[in-house]
Amino acid sequence: MAKNKIINIKINSQEIKAKEGETILEAAYRHGIEIPSLCFHPDTPVKANCRVCVVEIKGRKDLPTACSTEACEGMEIKTESAKVKAARKMNLELIFAEHIEKCPTCPLKSTCKLLSYARKYRLKINRFKDRKSKRKTYKFANAVEIDGTQCIDCRNCIDVCAQQGVNFLTLKDRGCGIEVVPVSDGKHDCVYCGQCAVHCPVTSAQEQLHFQEVEKILKDKKDKIIVAQIAPSIRSSIGEIFNLPYGKIVTGQLVASLRALGFDYVFDVNFGADMTTIVEANELIERLGKNPTSEIRNSKFEIPMMTSCCPAWVRFVEFYYPEFIPNLTTSRSPHIHSAGIIKTYWAEKTEAEFKDIIVVSIMPCTAKKFESQRKELRIKNRNLVDFVLTTRELGFLLERNRINLAKIEPQKTDNPLGEHSGAAAIYGASGGVMESALRTACDLLNKKEFGCIDFADVRGAEGIKKANVKIGNRILKIAVANGLGNAKKLLEELKKNPKAFDYIEVMACPGGCIGGGGQPIPTTPKQRAERANALYQIDRSKKIRMAHKNPQVKKAMDWLDKNEKLKYQILHTNYKKVKKPEALKK
Ligand code: SF4
Ligand code: SF4
Ligand code: SF4
Ligand code: FES
Repeated sequence: MAKNKIINIKINSQEIKAKEGETILEAAYRHGIEIPSLCFHPDTPVKANCRVCVVEIKGRKDLPTACSTEACEGMEIKTESAKVKAARKMNLELIFAEHIEKCPTCPLKSTCKLLSYARKYRLKINRFKDRKSKRKTYKFANAVEIDGTQCIDCRNCIDVCAQQGVNFLTLKDRGCGIEVVPVSDGKHDCVYCGQCAVHCPVTSAQEQLHFQEVEKILKDKKDKIIVAQIAPSIRSSIGEIFNLPYGKIVTGQLVASLRALGFDYVFDVNFGADMTTIVEANELIERLGKNPTSEIRNSKFEIPMMTSCCPAWVRFVEFYYPEFIPNLTTSRSPHIHSAGIIKTYWAEKTEAEFKDIIVVSIMPCTAKKFESQRKELRIKNRNLVDFVLTTRELGFLLERNRINLAKIEPQKTDNPLGEHSGAAAIYGASGGVMESALRTACDLLNKKEFGCIDFADVRGAEGIKKANVKIGNRILKIAVANGLGNAKKLLEELKKNPKAFDYIEVMACPGGCIGGGGQPIPTTPKQRAERANALYQIDRSKKIRMAHKNPQVKKAMDWLDKNEKLKYQILHTNYKKVKKPEALKK
């Protein structure tokens, strides 16, 4: 129904204007009135199964759920009457009985709605017998897990996995109740995007935790050098865990907090993003040209060229659409690029040994955990990134060590691997990777900076963006998709019309990494928009806005030019067709 007509309702005696067709919960949130809720998420269809958002409506005997009840003219609603509170408390007690408490190691401890409701409504959590203690935990590679003992059956994970076009999760009837389980028909596999985790209200679906291992090596360093590197998108999201406003840029506080935790050096993955852009822009130029040089080995130089810095997207292609593997760029992803440079170029400068450096990537992403262990990315038979922590995990680790990111004095990243262009800053938003590559390709081909900075057509939260852009003498047909469901639509379009596009960017998560599977909860369209705006603000604030003009990256690339064998290993990779599901392999 159209939501244009304005109607008048009262919530807790306050007169407010609602839009016709809007639910009570939506109208309340728009006016800053909080109604407790668990299963509701604006990204998924309303299922109304937790019944935490019950309200009292004048003239009605039942207690409807605010997330599924439309506001009507003249409605008078109470959200905290004695009757509502008693019913809500009972519903919460039943939910808490299903959700086996693992609060001490829960990365959502400080932001968990269920825990805060348990305190607010003084739940007697032992009143009901737990019925889920025998449920299994399903681990998907080293990235994501679903712990059935914590699940409250809201089904958000199943919905988002379906929206991703993956459909790896389903409901199984156990006789004594339903359970979320992975599909085992051999035709579906997890791609590790973590969207189930960031949409789960109670961390039943969550990242596999590695903070304990990182905490241990920070306490017991021996002769190791422990390096943290921070992803482009987390500087505008981690502040939320410390009650800062959505989209607050906290780069300096993040760096200081990591040093306070014990990291010896803090570098910026944005440095790696500048490297990725240079590799990708050159590959684009080569693929579009007639005589590709030998540097991009193992590639069939297919057009459209497709970005490959999102490991969940890469896995999606490898399992569901292997025929498009030759279209993926041969470029490694930003944190793998910067880790390679840390363990070789920077190691040589600081007279450190490759094996003595431990790199921890702080990422918005669960799929990066999987990516960091990929054999194809090893050098000297060792992983370049040793550990990946999500934004949530780092937030939890800081709280555990009583480091308040919101109050700490900001510090600068270590150099030279802390320097970056404006182009790198926008990698975390949908369209950012492509825009960065277009800036460099445009400048290299047009030989002038003018007109090569802002490619506004690729920005924004729209699921699929299409445009024509002029690069050199050529008009490029480009497309940008965020969310794998949208990527799937583009691939199906390409199957029908192989010449539909020249260059495609895909990021698996809604909005790109600012909506990543490891980001703070809640992550909704509102948070994603604020986080993305902050990244474009960083870009605008930079004097250098093109990757290939970053002087420190130039030096690193010059060094690679003198180390021909390492150069290919550090900059490029290859992919494999995955014939059978691998996520559940031990
Ligand atoms: S990580 Fe992504 S693909 Fe895997 S189960 Fe969760 S939503 Fe589905
Ligand atoms: S795993 Fe989380 S998102 Fe999925 S049904 Fe259970 S509680 Fe809901
Ligand atoms: S969009 Fe970003 S956060 Fe999401 S899976 Fe891809 S790289 Fe990870
Ligand atoms: S939030 Fe409304 S029923 Fe769960």
